[in-house]
Amino acid sequence: MDQATNLEKIKVASLFCGCGGMDLGIQGDFNFLEKQYPQLPFEVVYAADNDSYATQIYNSNFSHKCELKDVRDIVASELPDHDILLGGFPCQSFSIIAQNPPRLGYKDERGKLFFEMVKVLKEKQPRFFIGENVKGLLSANGGKAFPMIVKEFENVGYHIHYRLLNSSEFGIPQKRERVFIVGFRDFDDYFNFRFPLPNTLNGSKIKLKQVIDKKANKDDKWFFSQKAVDGMLRVREKMNKGRVQDLEQPCNTISSHLAKVSLNGTDPVLMIDERYRRLTPREAARIQSFPESFRLDIVSENRQYRAIGNAVPPVLMWHVANALRKILVLF
Ligand SMILES: C[S@@+](CC[C@H](N)C(=O)[O-])C[C@H]1O[C@@H](n2cnc3c(N)ncnc32)[C@H](O)[C@@H]1O
Repeated sequence: MDQATNLEKIKVASLFCGCGGMDLGIQGDFNFLEKQYPQLPFEVVYAADNDSYATQIYNSNFSHKCELKDVRDIVASELPDHDILLGGFPCQSFSIIAQNPPRLGYKDERGKLFFEMVKVLKEKQPRFFIGENVKGLLSANGGKAFPMIVKEFENVGYHIHYRLLNSSEFGIPQKRERVFIVGFRDFDDYFNFRFPLPNTLNGSKIKLKQVIDKKANKDDKWFFSQKAVDGMLRVREKMNKGRVQDLEQPCNTISSHLAKVSLNGTDPVLMIDERYRRLTPREAARIQSFPESFRLDIVSENRQYRAIGNAVPPVLMWHVANALRKILVLF
């Protein structure tokens, strides 16, 4: 047992908690693909999201409960004291997927939600915060949004490190790239922190085939109809999106609209015995590195896809949180 596990738990408040990918990752103590991600010295003491389906999933998987709440209604001074603020703030307006209509970035209402994090940081001054967002955040608004966001965090007293991390380099069967912004109230913490280094050597990335459900390969429910295939073939020459996944590689990024996956879209699909099939919600959860024990079946499959597609991969978050743990043992 190392020093960190002897420390009193560090308290975490989680805004935009969704179904709890970040929260599971920061607490640790779960298995993924026969690997154990040990418990970390962090404990979520407050969590909120305004999606009732995601919160139902959350509340079926954690012993603490999250609140169904619009974060804009949170009165910062009423939040429990915490040492770390988490926020995978909504990304729709920053995402390059949202180019049509054009990316609005921070001018869009949803793009402004990170201000809710700033508001809480200003009032509560936790020692750290961790923000997460899509890669498009770095280039949104012609590259102006990101420095503006960093400035807002600096203005309320934080030193900022940020990095684009690729999930497939951390033992996750998905090429999902996400920006992590880690803020430090104290300069020493900022000075000591190092982002985790990729731990998957080239050639040893987790392959999509390792998380495929063989039973689903035999169930017609998951296969596209002949009508859908014919429709796709008619417009095939216009398509260059390569959505059929290579089972020998990590999967392309899954999104929150997998429930509506079509053969003409950009979401990943499988080719099994020369037939197109979609991913099951459980496969989507594995692609996101959720453990098998993570319960999904309390809401409809459509809602499961949405919550899972929105989540931060728990294993990726575990690595970021573990990097934070390392600076705690220095003191
Ligand atoms: C990128 S997802 C967060 C994923 C989550 N951190 C995880 O790891 O699973 C963004 C979340 O923000 C929530 N959200 C969007 N607008 C919100 C608001 N005004 N108040 C509370 N939650 C909101 C969405 O329901 C969604 O779950």
